[in-house]
Amino acid sequence: MYLISSRFIRRYSKPRYYCKRDLLISWLIVIIFLLTISFNLEKSYSFIQKHHSSFYSLYSTPIAKRTLIIVRTSHHCESRLKYLLTSWISRYKDKQNQQNIFLLTDHYIKNSSYDKFANVILTNCPQTHNKFDLCCKTANEFEFYYNVTKDNNQFDWMCRFDDDQYLNLDNLYSYLGELDSSIPYYIGRTSTHPLGIHGLKQKFRFATYGGGVCYSKVLLKKLRLYINKSITPNECVKTGLSDDAYMGYTIEHKLNVSLTVLNDRLHSHLEHLDISFRRLTLQNLLQAITFGFAWDRYQLSWMPIIHEIIQLAKQNLNNEHSLMLLWNFLRDYEKLHPENLTEKFDDSCTSYHKRVKAAKTPSKTQQLTTRITPVEKITVKKIV
Ligand SMILES: *[C@@H]1O[C@H](CO)[C@@H](O)[C@H](O)[C@H]1NC(C)=O
Ligand SMILES: *[C@@H]1O[C@H](CO)[C@@H](O)[C@H](O)[C@H]1NC(C)=O
Ligand SMILES: *[C@@H]1O[C@H](CO)[C@@H](O)[C@H](O)[C@H]1NC(C)=O
Ligand SMILES: *[C@@H]1O[C@H](CO)[C@@H](O)[C@H](O)[C@H]1NC(C)=O
Ligand SMILES: *[C@@H]1O[C@H](CO)[C@@H](O)[C@H](O)[C@H]1NC(C)=O
Repeated sequence: MYLISSRFIRRYSKPRYYCKRDLLISWLIVIIFLLTISFNLEKSYSFIQKHHSSFYSLYSTPIAKRTLIIVRTSHHCESRLKYLLTSWISRYKDKQNQQNIFLLTDHYIKNSSYDKFANVILTNCPQTHNKFDLCCKTANEFEFYYNVTKDNNQFDWMCRFDDDQYLNLDNLYSYLGELDSSIPYYIGRTSTHPLGIHGLKQKFRFATYGGGVCYSKVLLKKLRLYINKSITPNECVKTGLSDDAYMGYTIEHKLNVSLTVLNDRLHSHLEHLDISFRRLTLQNLLQAITFGFAWDRYQLSWMPIIHEIIQLAKQNLNNEHSLMLLWNFLRDYEKLHPENLTEKFDDSCTSYHKRVKAAKTPSKTQQLTTRITPVEKITVKKIV
């Protein structure tokens, strides 16, 4: 009876017993499931954390962080820097935000505008404006890129500009953001005619440095074999090419990579006023990536004003008419009030003062030559 009863109990209590056990097992499963999820989440999270930088750079790093910007100046031209700081670099008053912008110079002037730049690269290049010096600075620009990308190549682009240029950063970024930096890109404003050098059958084009130039990551990698401080300055002198022309020779001729011409958006100080600035509409202004300034045309002191017009346009797109009037007034002002250049010189660079003073009675032609020493003019003469 007992056995029966016991068996009975066992038999009939089974379902209840199983029921409890099932419940326990179910709970265990749920707990294990939850633990697994949380563990997996933690794992995925730490995986993402660990690979954050590479994920980030691949898919979501803003183009600004992937673009290295170098602005070349000389200690002779310190007075130009304040215009950069009150225009396109103004939004970077907070030095923290100048992370990707580097000023490259030959000498640091203490207690000057230099102090307002977060990043200054010093070169040991001679402080003149001849081919050797300019090519030395160019080699330094590349060396700097290779230095900063040695351990972690976060920069897909390297763009270099001069100190007498306005740069519309938003336009630069939106333009580059559309391009694939794993394609060799050499982007710039081309000289009007292709150049030739002695002993070379084919002519080549080059991007004038006065208009701003961008190189993609893959092209920079290729250029590493060709551009360095020990060889490039001497090669420039040997070939008789200025730094920008030498880059064109290396890229178009040696590397067989064609220049991507962006003449309608990149502007240099060497353009003819009548076919360039004087014809720019408000739309042209807003679409441009760079403007070149020079003492005898759109002066550097106009840079902050032009910058303000561009900023206003961003905030007030429906006020186009007022902006157009403002821009046209500024644009036409120069035409209606041509400068009397007699006995004047570019006073934004002290080196030009000396040269003009050195000439006993400088004729207008001499003064014009003095101010146009920037390289493109020299090389243009070489056109065959
Ligand atoms: C730095 O410049 C300021 C204003 O330009 C001047 O008052 C100050 O004496 C200068 N300091 C040095 C160390 O030259
Ligand atoms: C690149 O790094 C080397 C070695 O640290 C240094 O000597 C050189 O000055 C750097 N060049 C530039 C342009 O930053
Ligand atoms: C510089 O470039 C030249 C020409 O490509 C090469 O022969 C030389 O080894 C390079 N020098 C250095 C220090 O990289
Ligand atoms: C240069 O590139 C073009 C097109 O990209 C190609 O057709 C040509 O064969 C190349 N020339 C040499 C010498 O590699
Ligand atoms: C230009 O300026 C010079 C000296 O400043 C003066 O002698 C000359 O008359 C001026 N020419 C014109 C056309 O105003």
